[in-house]
Amino acid sequence: MSFDLVLFGGTGDLAWRKLMPALFQAWRHGKLPAGGRILAVARDERSDVEYRQYIREKFTGVDEAKQPSDDEFSRFAELLHYRRMDLSRAEHYAGLKQWIDARNADTVVVFLATSPHLFMPVCEQLGLAGINGQKVRLVLEKPLGHDLASAREINRVVSTHFREDQALRIDHYLGKPAVQNLMALRFGNALFEPLWRRESIASIQITIAESIGVGTRGDFYDKTGALRDMVQNHALQLLTMIAMEPPSTGDADAIRDEKLKVLRSLKPFTPESVARDVVRGQYKAGAVGGQAVPGYLDEAKVPAGSHCETFVALRTEVQNWRWAGVPFYLRTGKRLAARDAQIVVSFREVPHPIFPGTRRANKLVIKLQPEDGLELHLLAAKSGAGNEALWPVSLDLDFDKAFSTERVGGYERLLLDAIAGRLNLFVRSDEQEQAWRWVEPVLHAWAADGIAPRPYMAGSWGPAAASALVARDGCVWAEEQ
Ligand code: BG6
Repeated sequence: MSFDLVLFGGTGDLAWRKLMPALFQAWRHGKLPAGGRILAVARDERSDVEYRQYIREKFTGVDEAKQPSDDEFSRFAELLHYRRMDLSRAEHYAGLKQWIDARNADTVVVFLATSPHLFMPVCEQLGLAGINGQKVRLVLEKPLGHDLASAREINRVVSTHFREDQALRIDHYLGKPAVQNLMALRFGNALFEPLWRRESIASIQITIAESIGVGTRGDFYDKTGALRDMVQNHALQLLTMIAMEPPSTGDADAIRDEKLKVLRSLKPFTPESVARDVVRGQYKAGAVGGQAVPGYLDEAKVPAGSHCETFVALRTEVQNWRWAGVPFYLRTGKRLAARDAQIVVSFREVPHPIFPGTRRANKLVIKLQPEDGLELHLLAAKSGAGNEALWPVSLDLDFDKAFSTERVGGYERLLLDAIAGRLNLFVRSDEQEQAWRWVEPVLHAWAADGIAPRPYMAGSWGPAAASALVARDGCVWAEEQ
């Protein structure tokens, strides 16, 4: 199958930091279909050779194991082409169309890795130039809007020129191997389904903790904040995967219909419940991994006195028969103690304990980062410890050990899916809009109350109020156990 991948924003951060390394890995693993061309589009004048050199230099910053040798890079670089475009000029799109048509590849993937304010004008121009035919797919990266109205406006423009099944919205968390495994765990095994409900599950925690700060993105981040940056998309997508009903087939729309139902069942926020059930925080100076780091307000390009949240913890419920009353806690933050993303499913305690001493409910821990794996926490009798004493033990599954082949990274998977036209892991416009609809009351309540986020020390697990939030239901966060 021949393909053309056109990368708008071809010299930008996303292109060289994530997309090119992912494409290289896909090529190295022999997964990239033969007969492909990758065309980077940007505004400066460069030749193909100069662009290849530019990318070669950028590769020196990626993980050592993922670095190409000179020979590998020169073979991979044969796929890379460069085209200068002024994105406001119709004739430049006409030129691009000619370049695409002259080859007539089986599939054309147009990836918008540009600054978000260009999404709408570029979509318009692509449509007007006729780069939206049957075999074209358009990939959009977040942020897709900053609230419901702006997301809808983008979707309106996209849908004027592209069918819904041509528009692929990326949430790179859906490309993570652990998320694939969550689907496999739930719908490829009979074991958990009878337990996957309110009668057996006491609570669910989803944590996406980052140890990094906002780095050089202070200006972008300050207009975004953790709720828009991580909760509206990544954390909610994980929640839908946990809470969805079994889809009738593995087709993209069957899966996305079920995820949408979950988003529609989330308990809506009111100003009172925002004050009670949502904790926002902002990091102060501290130390992460033994290194002193500045507070958020001292980061480059962050405006003085900003109330932007770098941490959110919240409690919600999925209001349906399966989940009624089960608390779902979502938590994410920058400059936390560790890079750690995991979902903890806590089961109910035994109904009638007959063993003295330790009482601990079973837990299933789905680990996304830094490594992906599964842990099942049980209690077992330890011989010699007194015949009736129970001890916590865990069954651990490390996917790297279970599968000897190298795991496929998130962007690699999503780019290959975009080329192959597999839509399961892309977000549909109605899902995305529903996620905005659900977070908006929180944004409004915060804008109205004018209260500063709670401070937390860099290198901690966030403000103490986050612990109090779960303690109200008799729960603790995973690291506090
Ligand atoms: C991005 C956010 O979507 O996800 C970043 O904009 C964040 O702020 C990143 O750092 C986290 O992704 P990952 O895959 O490193 O957990």
